[in-house]
Amino acid sequence: MFRQGPALAGLFFLVFSVACVAQGEAKRGEYLAKAGGCLGCHTEEREKAVPYAGGRALKTPFGTFYGPNLTPHPQAGIGRWTEADFVRAMREGRRPDGAHYYPAFPYPSFTLITDSDLRDLWAYLRSLAPSDRKSELHELGFLYRWRFLLTFWKWLFFDRGPFVSDPAQNAQLNRGRYLTMALGHCGECHTPRNFLGAPKRSEFLAGAKDVAPNLTPTRLKKWGEGDLRNFLTTGLTADGDVPAKEMGEVITNTTSQLAPEDLSAMIAFLRSLRPLPEPAK
Ligand code: HEC
Ligand code: HEC
Repeated sequence: MFRQGPALAGLFFLVFSVACVAQGEAKRGEYLAKAGGCLGCHTEEREKAVPYAGGRALKTPFGTFYGPNLTPHPQAGIGRWTEADFVRAMREGRRPDGAHYYPAFPYPSFTLITDSDLRDLWAYLRSLAPSDRKSELHELGFLYRWRFLLTFWKWLFFDRGPFVSDPAQNAQLNRGRYLTMALGHCGECHTPRNFLGAPKRSEFLAGAKDVAPNLTPTRLKKWGEGDLRNFLTTGLTADGDVPAKEMGEVITNTTSQLAPEDLSAMIAFLRSLRPLPEPAK
């Protein structure tokens, strides 16, 4: 009896520390999910909607997409997925059955997320309460219903990640670039797109007419340090104006939730960009 004491204690210790590690990852994953704005697209737009249970309508020129249920429910959500399925969805934009996702799911940005951050995001999604809310079907224009056409789109426009640090830049600028390009997917709105809906790389964050303004120093130099920080944390400009709904949501779900040093890194990165003119279209 007594002899099992230390063994049992050891076992408890092991179980306890494994539980701590798993929890720690989910906690980090929760922060990363905020930095990635996952909640907004994967939650219905109504009061008391279940977070991450899907249902948000995303209107695009190609039709209306609905963010699916990401909770671990075995039928309604992604409860039957393995971690490898999740990594493939985020890194390669592919479903477990191999079909391609539409880039309305910003995997062209999320592909840059590092392996360890993907692991933590997965741990967080696993920790959510399962919801049986059924995901709706996307309502797409005739031509856009064929997922296999995305094969060509991806050949042309998709570059597989993950993110690689630029050794010529310091740690803060690399962190800011990662937060802006990979998790924050700021370019999904702030970069102009070509007629096939792909962001124009040479005009990264130059602004898209009637969608979102230029974020390079051409425009951001008009913002004082405190004002920009304040805007991205409170959603108020120096004149007390509030931004359009799309950006208001990014501020609520993402930039206001960032740790102060992460927000500083993001701002420093934006300030370091090559100034680009506002695009004509
Ligand atoms: C701009 C909106 C948007 C954001 C932000 C977003 N998603 Fe999605 N997501 C979608 C859409 C739309 C789909 C469905 C794509 C399709 O059916 O081709 C999707 C699909 C997925 C899927 C596949 C689910 C399934 O059942 O096949 C996963 C996993 C996922 N998203 C995870 C995430 C995570 C994690 C984040 C945050 C890091 C995130 N998403 C942020 C719009 C978004
Ligand atoms: C869903 C689309 C969308 C995404 C994603 C998005 N933005 Fe915006 N953003 C907008 C829109 C629209 C405006 C214009 C708001 C207005 O003028 O009322 C804006 C305005 C801004 C402004 C104010 C610029 C100015 O001079 O008026 C800043 C700064 C900004 N965004 C930063 C970011 C950052 C950083 C990210 C990534 C974390 C981001 N945005 C992601 C849509 C978006």
